[in-house]
Amino acid sequence: MRLVRVLVSGLLLVAPLFSVQAENAPLDEAEGLFTARCAMCHQLPEPSMLKPKQWRLIIGTMQQRMQQANIPPLQVQEREMILNYLTARARQ
Ligand code: HEC
Repeated sequence: MRLVRVLVSGLLLVAPLFSVQAENAPLDEAEGLFTARCAMCHQLPEPSMLKPKQWRLIIGTMQQRMQQANIPPLQVQEREMILNYLTARARQ
């Protein structure tokens, strides 16, 4: 029983580290993802051309376009990374 408790509290301690890591994933890693995933069908868009809210909407539309084109859509974490990247460089 004690061992189980130790394991469970260990997991609880470690879990937040992973989520923090995902949120603060280095922006250059996100840039790589953005460059790879967002220039498949058109030229790479310029992050400063839109506001963060607009990017959020566009990414949703692009997910649909990827599905329609049989390209695997962005995973939740990839989507968040790209959105963080765009938000950091978006028009305010
Ligand atoms: C499967 C092909 C495809 C991929 C991959 C793709 N797009 Fe697009 N994108 C389109 C099409 C098609 C349009 C033309 C507008 C429409 O049909 O919605 C477009 C238009 C746009 C526009 C112009 C918006 C407008 O309303 O005119 C932006 C900005 C954009 N894409 C950003 C992105 C970003 C950011 C990514 C990466 C997450 C991405 N696209 C990935 C197909 C794609």
